[in-house]
Parts: sequence; structure tokens; C-alpha cells
Amino acid sequence: MRCEGWSIVFPVSELTVPAERAASTGKKHRLFFALVPDALVRRQVHDIQRRLEGSGRAVSPPNLHVTLAFLGMQDAAVIPEVCTVASGLSFPPCRVILDHLGQFGRGRVLWLGAGTLPAPLQAFQRSLVQALTVAGIGHDPKPWNFHLTLYRRLRKSPPTLGPIAIEWALNGYELIESVGSKNGVEYHSIAQWKALEEGLE
Ligand code: 2AM
Repeated sequence: MRCEGWSIVFPVSELTVPAERAASTGKKHRLFFALVPDALVRRQVHDIQRRLEGSGRAVSPPNLHVTLAFLGMQDAAVIPEVCTVASGLSFPPCRVILDHLGQFGRGRVLWLGAGTLPAPLQAFQRSLVQALTVAGIGHDPKPWNFHLTLYRRLRKSPPTLGPIAIEWALNGYELIESVGSKNGVEYHSIAQWKALEEGLE
């Protein structure tokens, strides 16, 4: 596993909390930053979901993601600031291997994780939450736990699968809005940031 292109455009310590935030619009958006799988990875993850025959609520393939930072309900006026924070960071292109299942929430949430995480990806996630903090943008302070949720409200233990190894080349991340819909929730991409360098081995 090799990672390159890791750099921060400017140190987060130079970020300042805006003296004046744009006036509240009164419109709130439920926001989070996430890693979003490409079509091939999404298909492979969906295949795992099918093999698990989970009795619970499967995350629909378009909604599969790994949360980097959860911002929760934010005023629309804050979104440009959130984007400015993200634009001040540089995403390190790298690869992860999704290779094991895990459960939390008393076993009700079943997720796919990676045994080894590239250090630059972990550093990037820390920089993101640090930059949000410095900018005064609220977010969930819980320590990051890289996971891609497959099922929620699981009602029975999943069957044992053979070895899993889904290779995922990461080359950017997104700001996403979670919107309630008839069928549960839809995730709408608000903005994307791509890694400056691509083509890792
Ligand atoms: P997940 O990452 O475990 O799947 C949108 O709600 C996304 O943000 C979901 O994917 C959700 O869980 C994640 N998330 C992270 N922290 C959250 C929190 N405190 N409240 C709700 N969702 C959170």
C-alpha cells in the first residue's frame, strides 16, 4: 500500500474563526463529509450485502459511504464556510482494502472495515476535524472509526463469509446532505474535493 500527495495547502493553525458569520437563513441542512465508493467498489460491497442475507435494513447502494466528519444540522449560511475549510486541505490519494466485518450499537449495525488504514488518510481526517474546530463549525467529536455501514437494525447474527478483500482507491471526498425521503433517507452531494495527484500503484 502506497500513499502520496499528502499535503495541507495551509496550516490549520492559520485558519481563523470568521469575525462575522453570514446571517442565518433559517434553513437547516443535515451535513457530513464522506468517502464515497466508485461504481466498481459499490457493486462489490453490494454483493457482500447480498451474501449476508441480513435481516435488517440494508443501506441502499447509492447511500454507501464512509463518514469522515458528521456536522449535523447546520444553517445554510454556514455551507460556504464549510466548503472554504475543505478547500484549504489536500486529500492524500491512497488505497484501502475493505477486509472485515464489524458490529456496533449492540450488534444492530453491521459494517465493513479495513484492517490497515493509510497513515495519510488518518492524518487527513484529523486535519479535517481540526480545521472544522478552528473555524467554529460544529461536528460530532467522537473519535473516528473508519467503517462503511452495510445494515442497520440487524435482527440476527450475519452468516460467516469467507475472506473479503475489496480494494478501494481513494482519490477525494464529498460534502453530503442527508435528506429525508419516502423510502428513508437520500444523500445529496453538495461538493466534492479531488486529490491533486492520482495514479497510485
Ligand atoms: P454511519 O457513518 O455509521 O453510517 C449520516 O447520518 C451519516 O453520518 C451516517 O452514515 C451516520 O452513520 C454518520 N454519523 C456519524 N456520526 C453521527 C451522529 N452523531 N449522528 C448521526 N449520524 C452520524
